[in-house]
Amino acid sequence: MTNERHVRLGSLALAATTIALLLQIGCGSCPGPPAEVPPAPEPATEPEPPAPEPPAPAKVPMLRPEGWDPIAFNRDRGNAGAIPESYHGDINGADGEAEHLGKHLPYIPDTTGLEVPMGYLALMWGDPAHGYAKHPNAPEGAEAYPRGHWYDWVKIRKATDGDAEEVETRFSGWPATGAGDSGRYLVAGGGAIEDDGGKNTIYLVELPADVKPGDTIRVWAHCLYHGEYVDFIAIP
Ligand SMILES: [Fe+2]
Repeated sequence: MTNERHVRLGSLALAATTIALLLQIGCGSCPGPPAEVPPAPEPATEPEPPAPEPPAPAKVPMLRPEGWDPIAFNRDRGNAGAIPESYHGDINGADGEAEHLGKHLPYIPDTTGLEVPMGYLALMWGDPAHGYAKHPNAPEGAEAYPRGHWYDWVKIRKATDGDAEEVETRFSGWPATGAGDSGRYLVAGGGAIEDDGGKNTIYLVELPADVKPGDTIRVWAHCLYHGEYVDFIAIP
């Protein structure tokens, strides 16, 4: 009896082992214990894109472009940096064309009765014939313009894509130019230069030797408070 029990127990143990083995073999395709999932890689931190560069002011053309629009050109170039940001609200405002952009564009005034020296060209800024405001001028220390308000340089070049001489005329003060300045002033209408807020000031700028009557010149000038302006005008 004891032996029989041993035999039966032995058979049971053998059967259990066999089943366990069979289960193990039969489960060869079963997924094993969940593999350790590696932590998701940290999303690669993209470097911050660099802040966009402010647009550089447009290049100043050598020749008067087809369909030249000095208001649009100077507004765009001004917004890109050629005009101080403090003036952008004005140039982009409703009266920006006449009161701010046009006011800074050059024209050749009537100089009848005045003496324009040889080699010089008379210029004013803000042609009333185009409906533009006349550009005022103010001395250094003026309440509204502590640094003064005038054009401190004017560059003239024959409008050509070939070789040409560019001459820069400097004005280091207003109502009088400084020692060493090549620029000079005249007054339109015969009054004092300070009259009417300096709006009658005529700038005498040097002409390059290669410019002759009938040529178109490029005028590139800088107002102390309001930045750079470019225009093309014909020499009578
Ligand atoms: Fe100005």
